Amino acid sequence: MCGIVGYCGPKNCTPILLDGLKRLEYRGYDSAGIGVESEKGPLVVIKRVGKIAQLRAAVPPTLQGHCGIGHTRWATHGGVTDTNAHPHQDMSGKIAVVHNGIIENYGPLKKKLEQEGVRFASETDSEVLAHLIAHYYRGKLEDAVGNALRQVKGTYGIAVIHLDEPGKIVGARCGSPLVVGVGDGEMFLASDVAAIVSHTKQVIYLSDGELVSLSASDYSITDIDHNPIEKSVDEIQWDIEEIEKEGFFCYMEKEIFEQPDSIARTLSGRLDIEYATGKLGGLNMTSRELLAVRRVKIIAAGTSWHAGLVGAYLLESLARIPASAELSSEIRYRNPVVEPDTLYFAVTQSGETADTLYAMRELKRKGARVLGICNVVGSTIARESDGGVYTHAGPEIAVASTKAFTSQLAVFYVFALLMARMRDLSFIQGQRFVEELQGISAKVRETLAQRDRIQNLAKKYYRARDFLFLGRGIEYPVALEGALKLKEISYIHAEGYAAGEIKHGPIALVNEETPTLIIVPRDSLREKTLSNMKEVKARGGPIIAVCTGEDEEVKAIADDYIPIPAVDELFYPFLTVVPLQLFSYFCALELGRDVDQPRNLAKSVTVE
Ligand code: G6P
Repeated sequence: MCGIVGYCGPKNCTPILLDGLKRLEYRGYDSAGIGVESEKGPLVVIKRVGKIAQLRAAVPPTLQGHCGIGHTRWATHGGVTDTNAHPHQDMSGKIAVVHNGIIENYGPLKKKLEQEGVRFASETDSEVLAHLIAHYYRGKLEDAVGNALRQVKGTYGIAVIHLDEPGKIVGARCGSPLVVGVGDGEMFLASDVAAIVSHTKQVIYLSDGELVSLSASDYSITDIDHNPIEKSVDEIQWDIEEIEKEGFFCYMEKEIFEQPDSIARTLSGRLDIEYATGKLGGLNMTSRELLAVRRVKIIAAGTSWHAGLVGAYLLESLARIPASAELSSEIRYRNPVVEPDTLYFAVTQSGETADTLYAMRELKRKGARVLGICNVVGSTIARESDGGVYTHAGPEIAVASTKAFTSQLAVFYVFALLMARMRDLSFIQGQRFVEELQGISAKVRETLAQRDRIQNLAKKYYRARDFLFLGRGIEYPVALEGALKLKEISYIHAEGYAAGEIKHGPIALVNEETPTLIIVPRDSLREKTLSNMKEVKARGGPIIAVCTGEDEEVKAIADDYIPIPAVDELFYPFLTVVPLQLFSYFCALELGRDVDQPRNLAKSVTVE
């Protein structure tokens, strides 16, 4: 979604802002802009619809300055135009503001300002902030920002500069992430560490209600009423190389192939070999509290929801705990019943998804204990949850989630093992489970070796207008995930369905032009899925099957097949999802799509 970057220090800020915006590109946006306190005097604001390359081309090489802010916009209020892009300015042109989030009461605020003679340049909600800050400005930017924000209802992460106070950036957050980068004689502000990690690894994560004032050599953090707040400086644990493509064609390809390593990172230090159980220190729960859990509920969106569905299946079958996964956008506006012995998990790669965040807050207000399964360290959900687990998949840049999914699975497998060992699972069964989990990275690597076969299949099938994805049991969420991946990046219409359900509707879609991708590993439901394959075949539908090794029965029915290694049946989702990720990726390539930044989507959806 929208992204913010700011710099003050001795260097020329223009290339720093443009490079920072480039690093934020992955979050999804439609226009971008920078505001620079130029050496020659005025505040220079340049904004362009399109990619950062377009903005870069519009910025004169002579533009130099030591303090500036930049923004990538994902339109909410007002169309995608140069004028609606950020920064926004007040009428004097001395103030520039970039804003992530939504100002809910911008209508009445705008009306009031217009009555005072303010003329608005854009159709955005964000522009009111520039005029409101100007309205309150009496020589101290922190005060004006604080006073303006007191009038505002909604969510924001903002960065503001004022020409009368050169070299200063004021930032504030409420519901939209903001992080301060502490450099050596220079300071950064960003909505995402990716924008600044090449300059500094020392960061301060702001919390809601906090306001920061930055100069090249100093920072001060207060609440909106200017009461000082002490914050700790954290160190980013990953390197800039992790957000480079490292020879891969695009980030999605890199992230798919990184999975053997990212899964291993997630599992690292979390398997207790001696007692054949899981170790998850961050849960903040004693064994006794865990034993008292009678039900697990998982809330999430998109791919994370699919991981949650697998997690729920696993918890029920292995640990014998009733478990379910729900869409956070749905639970948020229901009136959920929170029972004292129910444990909740908010699963999220970014840790910022608004629906999941607000659903979590609602559940917490009702007294629920909500743990987070997050990838982004220091993210809002990670910090507001009652405890949890970091997936440590490393930064995920491609909009379509891949490695975050398998790492989320890995967390659920460790948690289910822990819970199962406290209940019915014997030591020997636990040992077998641990061994299987330890071997899963290698099996994922083996599966990735099917790359060329999958690419050829994509070449054969990418012209199809519609696709069906089918799976049963623990493979049903994987079918949903396969269909989502194909939709997201290739724009081919795809439906994921429980294989047993097709006769209740989707089979009507089957014809020679609609291929079906069936997940049919050697598990206890294989016979049932084989029957569903036959039903599709009998109606002339082409079939691609994901199956265990050279499964002759599958091969006899399917038009094409993708073999995967054999594992214990509960572990197949780690392997079956990989061919589906690759298949979507190669279809998107054939169609010439922008794989990493598919149209209309954003990496982290911080609005409703
Ligand atoms: C967006 C992304 C998806 C992601 C979903 C949930 O829609 O495009 O890839 O699965 O958000 O994101 P989260 O960060 O909460 O896992």
